[in-house]
This record gives sequence, C-alpha cells and structure tokens, in this order.
Amino acid sequence: MKILVTGGAGFIGSNYVYQVLHRHPEDEVVVLDALTYAGNLENLKQLERDPRFRFVKGDICDAALVDDLVKGVDAVVHFAAESHVDRSIMDPGVFVRTNIIGTQTLLDACRRNGNVRFHHVSTDEVFGSLGATGLFSEQTPYDPRSPYSASKAGSDHLVRAAWHTYGLPVTISNCSNNYGPYQHPEKLIPLFITNLIEGKTVPLYGDGMNVRDWIHVEDHCEGVDLVLRKGTIGETYLFGGRSERSNAEITNLILFEMGAGQGKIERVADRLGHDRRYAIDPSRAERELGWSPKTPFLHGLRKTIAWYTSNEAWWRNVKSGAYREYYEKQYGSRPTPGVSR
Ligand SMILES: NC(=O)c1ccc[n+]([C@@H]2O[C@H](COP(=O)([O-])OP(=O)(O)OC[C@H]3O[C@@H](n4cnc5c(N)ncnc54)[C@H](O)[C@@H]3O)[C@@H](O)[C@H]2O)c1
Repeated sequence: MKILVTGGAGFIGSNYVYQVLHRHPEDEVVVLDALTYAGNLENLKQLERDPRFRFVKGDICDAALVDDLVKGVDAVVHFAAESHVDRSIMDPGVFVRTNIIGTQTLLDACRRNGNVRFHHVSTDEVFGSLGATGLFSEQTPYDPRSPYSASKAGSDHLVRAAWHTYGLPVTISNCSNNYGPYQHPEKLIPLFITNLIEGKTVPLYGDGMNVRDWIHVEDHCEGVDLVLRKGTIGETYLFGGRSERSNAEITNLILFEMGAGQGKIERVADRLGHDRRYAIDPSRAERELGWSPKTPFLHGLRKTIAWYTSNEAWWRNVKSGAYREYYEKQYGSRPTPGVSR
C-alpha cells in the first residue's frame, strides 16, 4: 500500500511512519508536513535514505499540492493539525485554518481523485468533560469546549459528511492523551521530564486533579493502522489506554522516577475552561479490530524518561528554537537526500 501521511514530522505521525514501514515492509510512505514549530525533520532522520520513504514540505491547505500528492496513493492517514489546547486559547484562528480547512482540502482531493481511502486521526476531547464516573464511547454526543477540540470536532463532522454525501471511504479514530518518544516538550510529560533534567520546577495546573486516560503512542499507532486495514468504512473507533491518571499522580510518578522531591512542583493558575476528566471505553476496537493497549503506564513512562534522557540534543534544540535555525541553515532551499520539499 502507498500511504500519504499528513503531519508525519510531528509526534504521533513520525511514530506511525516508523511503525508502518516496520510492520508492512512492502508499503511506501509519503509524508506531507508544513514543519510548523511542532514538526521536526529530525524525527524522521532514520528514514532519510529509505527508498520507501519520501518527505514533502507543504501545507495541507494548498489544494494544488494536495491534489498532486493524493493522485499517487492508495490511502491518506491524516495526522496534520494544530494540536496544543493552550495555543488554541491564545490564537484560535490558525486551528480553524489547519484543522478544518486543511481537512476539507484533503477530503476534496480524495474525492476528485477516485475516492481515495481516508483515515482521520482525532481526539477524545471532542466529547467534552466527564464527571467522576462514566466513559466516552462511539455513541457519546459531541460537546467540544476549547478552540482546539471545537476545530477537531468540526473536522470529524466534515469527514462524516464526505462519507454520507459522496460515499468517500472514510474512517475516524478518537484517541486519548498520548505520550512517548518525539513528543514536543510543550506537552505535560516531556515538559516535566525535560524541566527536571534541566534542574527547573514543573508547572502543575490548578489543583492537579484533572484526569486523562494515558496511552503509549505505539499502542495508538497500532490502532490507527488496524482501522486503516480492517476498519468498517464510515465508522468511528475509540482508543484509550485503560489508564486514568490525574495530573498530580503523573507529576508524582515522574518526580519519583527521576529522584526529585515535591519541592520541584510549582502550582500555576489553571488553564481556562480546563476539562475535568476524560476516559475512554475502547471495547469496540478491542472486539472488532483485535486491538488492545499493550504498554502498562509505568513501563511506558520509564521508557519515555529513558528516551528523553538519552536524546537530550533533540529536545534541547526544540526547546531553544535552535532546530528552526538549523533547518534553514542546513537545508535552505536545497532538497536533502531522500527528502524533497
Ligand atoms: N497528542 C495527543 O495526545 C493526541 C491525542 C489524540 C489525537 N491527537 C491527534 O493526532 C494528530 C497528531 O497529533 P500530535 O500530537 O502528533 O501533533 P504534533 O503537533 O506533534 O504534530 C502535528 C504535525 O502537523 C504538522 N502541521 C501543522 N499544520 C500543518 C499544515 N497546515 N500542513 C501540513 N502539516 C501541518 C506539524 O508541522 C506537525 O508535524 C492531531 O491531529 C491530533 O489532533 C493527538
């Protein structure tokens, strides 16, 4: 299968590209990524000389480019997005552009080019906030509450509309909070790990009792790949780690694993409109796809701490912004081996 992976230079997308080429050695992957602040070609470095891999720098809102790329593939797996809730609170416009207009641009290209198979990678945040009990399922009504989740909800609706209106062969997956290698250090787990390595404090929002269902990125990627190959067209699948943790619990685990004391916690004002609890019932994916979350949280967390500890240059470049300068200096307008722009 030849797959166009949008956002493949980001956190989950890059993990997905490695996993697909490992699990399906006959597949080919084209990554389309705009290399925003969150995209990093370093994430795909091990594939630079792999003949099954091609990188294209570009915007999913660029209809002509997208049309050109979709022509040559069997499927599109769509990860590209603005993905950080805090940034969406500061500047919602770019979330509307990328997450909604970008998704529609891809859907149009798939339709124009013979109904190309389309999988949309979405989030559990579209379902809003839970109380102390209950789980999100495929039947939960949408109730997005941040500009980020509202834009992802909008993109989910457009994907479903493309199926119902034009018969475009689509699937959607909504997943809980991911963690693992290559995650931008603006997100909670890598931020706290790297701050502790740097000897800094860790900023904990509000009372620390916001709960998320944490899943290792490899488990999420396996789920996405199973939906692509075995999922029922027009359907939605939810993925979660069966691992609910409060931010305070995660913080304490990271402090403990890294030998740091409670004095490193810095209480900061809560995020505006901070959803209290998300939790997923992934039983449909387990039943119909034979999928299950395989990484126990503590094992995954230890692996993630080890990855950030041994890849210090990677996150220090991202944190200092040096990566962007590096990219311009290193590549300018020249293509690199195995990498086209
Ligand atoms: N991180 C999570 O916990 C999580 C959970 C569930 C769903 N998701 C979804 O998974 C997807 C990937 O998330 P992530 O955490 O890897 O995000 P990320 O921010 O690490 O990566 C996003 C990638 O998209 C690229 N991109 C942004 N705008 C683009 C544009 N206009 N054109 C082309 N490329 C563009 C960026 O350069 C980056 O490489 C997103 O759709 C997100 O909503 C994430």
